[in-house]
Parts: sequence; structure tokens; C-alpha cells
Amino acid sequence: MRKNLLAAALFVAVASAPSGRAVELAAAHAIAPVPATAGLPGPVSRVTFHEQVERVLQKNCQTCHHEGGIAPFPLVSYADAYEHRVKMQIVTGNRTMPPWKPDSQCGAALQGNPRLSDGDVAVFLEWLRHGSPEGDATRAPAPLAFDDGWKLGAPDLQLGMTQPFQPDFATGDVYRCFRLPTGLNGQRYLSGIEVAPGNRSMVHHVLLFADTTGATAALDGKDGQPGYPCFGGPGFNAVSPLGAWVPGYRPALLSDGIGIDLPKNATLVMQVHYSARTGGVAPDQTHVALHFAKGPVQKRLLTLPLVNQTFRLPAGQANIPVSASFAAIPYDVTLRNIAPHMHLLGRTMSVTLTPPGGTAACLVNVPDWDFRWQGFYAFVTPVKVSPFSRMDVQASYDNSADNSNNPNKPPKDVTWGENTSDEMCLCYVSFTIDSENLTGAAGLAPTSLETFEPFWEMRTAAAAAPSRDR
Ligand code: HEC
Repeated sequence: MRKNLLAAALFVAVASAPSGRAVELAAAHAIAPVPATAGLPGPVSRVTFHEQVERVLQKNCQTCHHEGGIAPFPLVSYADAYEHRVKMQIVTGNRTMPPWKPDSQCGAALQGNPRLSDGDVAVFLEWLRHGSPEGDATRAPAPLAFDDGWKLGAPDLQLGMTQPFQPDFATGDVYRCFRLPTGLNGQRYLSGIEVAPGNRSMVHHVLLFADTTGATAALDGKDGQPGYPCFGGPGFNAVSPLGAWVPGYRPALLSDGIGIDLPKNATLVMQVHYSARTGGVAPDQTHVALHFAKGPVQKRLLTLPLVNQTFRLPAGQANIPVSASFAAIPYDVTLRNIAPHMHLLGRTMSVTLTPPGGTAACLVNVPDWDFRWQGFYAFVTPVKVSPFSRMDVQASYDNSADNSNNPNKPPKDVTWGENTSDEMCLCYVSFTIDSENLTGAAGLAPTSLETFEPFWEMRTAAAAAPSRDR
């Protein structure tokens, strides 16, 4: 069964990916001269740290670049910024920072796009050109506090690891699942899930699943540590995650009337990817906040994978196309979130929506895939999809020796699988079904996700004829 395969394979992680690309990029980009006044707000005689740079850092950088944050160094004090002044100009000028992989030219706008304004980019360049002065400390903005409190406010239910867990990085990154019993008796709808990573310098991502099988109880604590190892998947048949956290992720509540189904007798299972990259190791205690839907819920937020599991990436070959589709969406649906996913050989992924008889519109396009920066992207305006529209994923992979991320040296043939060195061609789409009305008097039966399955298509090469994998 495809679904079982999927369950085992969801969001596999990676032993630390090489992080040299930013450095290569930096070396390749000389500092280009721009007009001295380019995009700067107001007349500026001299750009200083306290008057301009610090504000830009607070607004755009310090969520990650603070002591104990996910970035490798803080950009908080004058000394911090001065030390990194040249690289800051380069990585903002070429837009590698703040990290954001989707192409902003793609049609559908995504929430939380941190792309710097041209004016903010110019601040870094101008500061460098003015000799990177500190300026007048009395004009500095108040420092930000990084208390890491709940962004969505006080939760209805807070769950978390009952004991701290310290990963052992001896063999690379660690994937650990923790069971979080909810203590709830009945079914609930959630309007939001927020994750608070305990140790942000190690926690690379968190995925939440609902276990209604009870299968994970037997796994828990078997090796004498809290939780259980879960490199490939959460240890039971979970089609898609309920919620997620990745660096830079900004939680949001769903619109009124939409809920995430937390089934009766479900135990939340939290998969935490601990990254060995920053080198430090310390105990972690990650928490989760659940927000129950306040009013009646008419529609469930459903998540399905657009997926191809039949491809083969021949050793040594660069630029290998792989695609996957929903040949026809069976209902009027409204798309809300999208999450492209590949491993280390992935280079590009774009997803399009084509209404019947219409032209393809871009939903998300990642032109320079980086395993370390993935997102569950929410559309600024939910996308209406008419029945019989198709949705296509077009991805490309580089399995040549020239791909510095290639985990196999020398390269070897790679297929779908859950290990880092395997590959995936997968994109989650979260949507609501327009006709679903859970509170309706007529009692429209909730639509089952299985009704989508006949419409899945997998294609391994752009030229290959579409074929149903059934
Ligand atoms: C979402 C988290 C995040 C945000 C926001 C962010 N960074 Fe980073 N930054 C990182 C991480 C993590 C790295 C380490 C390299 C990597 O993993 O890509 C990094 C690396 C860097 C580097 C080193 C690059 C190199 O080649 O060594 C610089 C300089 C930098 N960031 C500057 C900035 C600036 C300036 C901003 C704001 C305009 C910013 N960053 C915003 C997470 C972030």
C-alpha cells in the first residue's frame, strides 16, 4: 500500500548537510557599487550601527542570530555586527539571508516572506562604505527580549517532554519521537499548534502526528532514554503531520470555522530532529501548545502528499526530472498551505495548478533547494481550486559527483526511501473542501481523503507519458 510506504517515509531527516554553499556564494559575489543614497529612508549622512544597522538586525535577523538561537553566531552587539560586517553585506545583497527558499516571482504570495526591502539591503552596504561606525548609543533601539514565550498567547492545553533528553551525536544527527498523551476523552478540533523548541541551537525541526493505534506505547523508553528513535517516520501509519516547526516558522491560528482534527483517543507524537551542526550538545525539553477551535468547525484542514515513489536517479547524472500530479482534484477545494520536500540530491521543485482548459499558475517554486531550509508555507490568500483542476510537481535532482551535497561518493543509483541518502519527491498540500459542512443540518458526510487516491499520478521523467500508478 502506498500509504504505508508514505507513513514510514514522512519527512526523513538528514545527517548534517554540508553548509559550504553560503560561503561559496559569498566568495563569488564581489561588492557591487550602488548609488550612495540607494533606497535609504530619508537623508542619511552617515550610516551607523545604533542608528540604522541595529534596527534592521532586530527586525530581520535576531530571531535566529541571538545567543542560543539557531544561527551560528549572534548579531546583537556592535562587536557582533562589526565582526561580520563584510559577510552581512554579501548575504543580504545576494539575498541568501534571511533564509527563504521560495521564489518571490511565483504567482501565489506566501505568508512570512522575510525578503529584505532594497532600503534594508542598502543599509548594510552603506554602513560598510562609511567604515562601519558604532554611532550614538543613546539613539539605539531598546534591545529585544528573547523570552521565547508563546506567540499565539496562552494555550488551551500545553504538552511537553516530561524529562529532558540529551542527544548523542556520535553517529550524526538524531531523530527522536516523544509521546505526548493529551488526557482528552473526546475528539477535538484545533485552530492552532505552536511548538516551543527547548534548545534552539540543536532543534532543527519538529513534526507532530496523532497516534490512534497505540502502537508507539511499546516503543517509548525502550532504550532507557525518554522517547524512542524515529529516523524514518513516527513508528505508526500516519498519512500526514498535524503540525510542524522549522527555524523561522511563524505560527498562526486557522480562520474561524476551520479545524485540525485531533481524533478521539489520540496520543500526540512529536518527532524532533536534533542537528549536530552547531557542535554543542545539551539537554532539550521541547513543548507544544494546542489551541482548541473556539466556535463551531465547518471544515477540516486536510493534508495530502503529492508524491512520486517510483523514480530512479542514475549515478553520475545531473538535472534529472521527476514529477508527480493530482490528475484531477475531485472537488471544489481551497488550498491553504504547501510544503515541498526532497533530500540532498534535490535541486529544484515547482508546483503548478491548472484549471480545466486553463493555463498553469505557479503555487510555489523553489529554484535552489536546500534541505536545511524547508517550510510549511501558508498562502496569503487561500487559493480556490475548481473541480477537475490538476496539480503538478516538477522536481529536478543532481546525482552527479559535482553536487557537493551528494551523500554518495562516488555517486550511486538512488531511489525513493526514508534514509538521508535515499530521495523523496513529495509536496504536502493542505486544503479545505468547500462543500464540507460538519455542522450542517443536512449532515453532509465528511469527505474521506481516500477519495483523492485514484487521482494520484507519478511520472519519473518529463517526457514520459502520464501513467496511473495503480
Ligand atoms: C531563520 C533564521 C535566520 C535569520 C532570520 C537570519 N539568519 Fe543568518 N544564518 C542563519 C543560519 C542557520 C546560518 C548558518 C548558515 C546556514 O545554515 O545557512 C546563518 C548564517 C549567516 C551568515 C554567515 C554566512 C556565511 O557565509 O558564513 C551571515 C553573515 C548571516 N547569517 C547574516 C544574517 C543577516 C544579516 C540576517 C538578517 C538580515 C540574517 N542572517 C537572518 C539563520 C538565520
